[in-house]
Amino acid sequence: MSKNFRVLASVALAASLAATSACSSTRDESSSSTGGSTSNLIGIAMPTRSLERWNNDGAHLDGLLKKAGYTTSLQYADNKVDQQITQLENMINQNPKVLVVASIDGTALGPVLDKAAKANVKVIAYDRLINGSPNVDYYATFDNYLVGKLQGQFIEEKLGLKDGKGPFNLEPFAGSSDDNNAKFFFNGAWDVLKPYVESGKLVIPSGKKIAGEEDWKTVSITGWKSETAQAEMDNRINSFYTGGKKVNVVLSPNDSLALGIAQSLESKGYKPGADYPIITGQDADLANVKNIIADKQAMTVWKDTRTLGDQVAKMVDAIVKGGTVETNDTKTYNNGVKVVPAYLLPPVVVVKDEIKAKLVDSGFYTADKLGL
Ligand code: GAL
Repeated sequence: MSKNFRVLASVALAASLAATSACSSTRDESSSSTGGSTSNLIGIAMPTRSLERWNNDGAHLDGLLKKAGYTTSLQYADNKVDQQITQLENMINQNPKVLVVASIDGTALGPVLDKAAKANVKVIAYDRLINGSPNVDYYATFDNYLVGKLQGQFIEEKLGLKDGKGPFNLEPFAGSSDDNNAKFFFNGAWDVLKPYVESGKLVIPSGKKIAGEEDWKTVSITGWKSETAQAEMDNRINSFYTGGKKVNVVLSPNDSLALGIAQSLESKGYKPGADYPIITGQDADLANVKNIIADKQAMTVWKDTRTLGDQVAKMVDAIVKGGTVETNDTKTYNNGVKVVPAYLLPPVVVVKDEIKAKLVDSGFYTADKLGL
């Protein structure tokens, strides 16, 4: 989607939203007090500012809804579950129409969503599913299983596994175990890679065994922290890569982990070029796109967060005006209590020579910002 088209699309979207929700609104940056009428209040709860994408997600959705005349309360919870629950309780006390929630721990919000339901507040789970509650009305995200599948297929193709190449040394990582997405990412990739692990074409020198349904948690990195991934990679290299053994490929579920893993490899003497391992990623974070340009990461799965914000703004508007909320998946996402009707958006693989066409021409980044 070209930059001009994207701009036109968001202006058109804001205009259509504005047409339906024109009522008095007061701008309120991120503090929870709206000060003005709360009749048109939309609460937006984001997990943290320390993981790059959520800043983009929050700002884009907040801007769209404000442009459309809604009052918003945009909150970030520093990856602290209790803080997020308190923020949601504060929002509910202000009688919002809709809560948009990107949860930190998708299993911890049952009680506060009960309060939302009692106050007749509708809830949209944003990017990450909220589990164990009947009070999640809709879910909007990217196709999480496909994200992992694209990472697995990228490794399969890059290494020539389909042509019988190998063995190669693989180190698998998974995302935060409290994040419902992490399981989908990992399973998507592992369903591609597992046959090669079983056939011995992919070897895991660190001995991580991924057999059972929940075994992905043995390689999960809590809170998606770069520094934790870096320390874990240091440990694996120190313990299992002696005597000249080399890491050939790292399954990293997202860019924050990939950054830490690349820093570990660099500190252990790996240099971009000949023996540098394939590292996957997700989110197209700025530092990681620069690492791809510098051959320190092989790919990222880009999820254009603007399109997710656009879709959620439409869902909010449909809920507020009593219209039909658009969904395109009413089967996949069972949260343990119900199948939550969802709207899935397409993730896209980005490699070095596609950065301009996909990330710059679409306006996600400027060439200047990427040093291009
Ligand atoms: C996931 C999200 C990814 C990544 C990760 C860490 O839930 O889908 O895009 O950002 O969290 O923030």
